[in-house]
Amino acid sequence: MSNSAIRRIDVQGIRNLSCTQLAPSEQINILFGTNGSGKTSFLEAIHYAGLGRSFRSPRVESVICTDLAEATVFIELVSGSSIGVSKSRPGSHTLKLRGERQSSWLDTARSLPLLLINSDSFSLLEGSSKVRRKFLDWGVFHVEHDFAASWRGASRCIAQRNLLLKSRHIDERQVDAWSVELSTYADRIDHSRSQYLQRLLPLIEDTLAHLLDVPELTIKYSRGWDEGSPLLELLRGSLDRDARYGATQIGPHRADLQIRIGKFRAEDYLSRGQQKLLVIALKLAQGRLLTELSGGSVIYLVDDLPSELDAPNRVKVCRLLERFDSQAFMTCVGENDLDTGWSSGTSMRKFHVEHGKMSAFSSSSGMT
Ligand SMILES: Nc1ncnc2c1ncn2[C@@H]1O[C@H](COP(=O)(O)OP(=O)(O)OP(=O)(O)O)[C@@H](O)[C@H]1O
Ligand SMILES: [Mg+2]
Repeated sequence: MSNSAIRRIDVQGIRNLSCTQLAPSEQINILFGTNGSGKTSFLEAIHYAGLGRSFRSPRVESVICTDLAEATVFIELVSGSSIGVSKSRPGSHTLKLRGERQSSWLDTARSLPLLLINSDSFSLLEGSSKVRRKFLDWGVFHVEHDFAASWRGASRCIAQRNLLLKSRHIDERQVDAWSVELSTYADRIDHSRSQYLQRLLPLIEDTLAHLLDVPELTIKYSRGWDEGSPLLELLRGSLDRDARYGATQIGPHRADLQIRIGKFRAEDYLSRGQQKLLVIALKLAQGRLLTELSGGSVIYLVDDLPSELDAPNRVKVCRLLERFDSQAFMTCVGENDLDTGWSSGTSMRKFHVEHGKMSAFSSSSGMT
């Protein structure tokens, strides 16, 4: 079993989870409970520990339990490593990895690779290009350790360049200096993204074949500036336009993926349930690739899998999750909503979530 799997989680003060502990299975974990019981909040707590932010609110303060002054999440991994994070309101967070204070979330995110599948995942198809860049960059970040530095470098250049473009009298020499630096980072980012996608595509195709029978899927990457022309040349040629917008109009911050089924955009052609299956295939493929390239394994946070999926499709997803041997935390409302589809050898734990408390649940159906 993967070293990145979670062995123990303690959550205090995240939304309605005032104080709860969990010793999960290293494979499949099902959290069930009524609306408002705290299932999504538990996934949010894991997400917060891994990435320093919630997937529901832009401000992490809003996840702190209204009755408490502080939120704390402690995670112990199978590898023996640990992550501890606490946040008071107002105030900065304290983050520890293996007991050592961290000034950024980079190493923590690497030791806890999380893939979230929830109702917002549809935005991978129908949302802005930013969502698809995030998808791509998640994968590149986890397989290429220099990527974060290139990405930060490019962001800094774009911010500085934009600042100059907004000024009344534009200093062209300074703009050019940032353009030169930006194009160096941009080439690295483009190379990493397109290499990653080349590796990912066959896995997406294979994973999707287990879930959905649709005409040919194509995923085309556009890097954010014209193919065949160096970015620097294009930036130099577009100074007037950029000055009009007061912002850099081309570059790696404009990259996108066109996801099509046959000749149609995926979101225009597929039903809602089929879109969900496609998004799941995209994310599962990322998890598989990470395992192939780094030997590590991801943790899937799957919020409300049953919604939009009929029973046979739920079973297909469950089968894939257990086959890829990752740890998963899956939520559903009913006690038996996710009971079918598991092999007898799968290690599974079920937890009942009630009023912000979790309790291990065993049923007569053979769950342990
Ligand atoms: N900052 C907060 N402090 C305390 N409670 C909060 C806070 N924010 C939200 N809540 C409450 O926490 C509860 C748990 O919400 P959560 O979204 O986790 O429920 P859920 O089990 O996922 O429900 P559903 O099945 O409807 O998705 C809700 O009752 C919500 O109102
Ligand atoms: Mg929920």
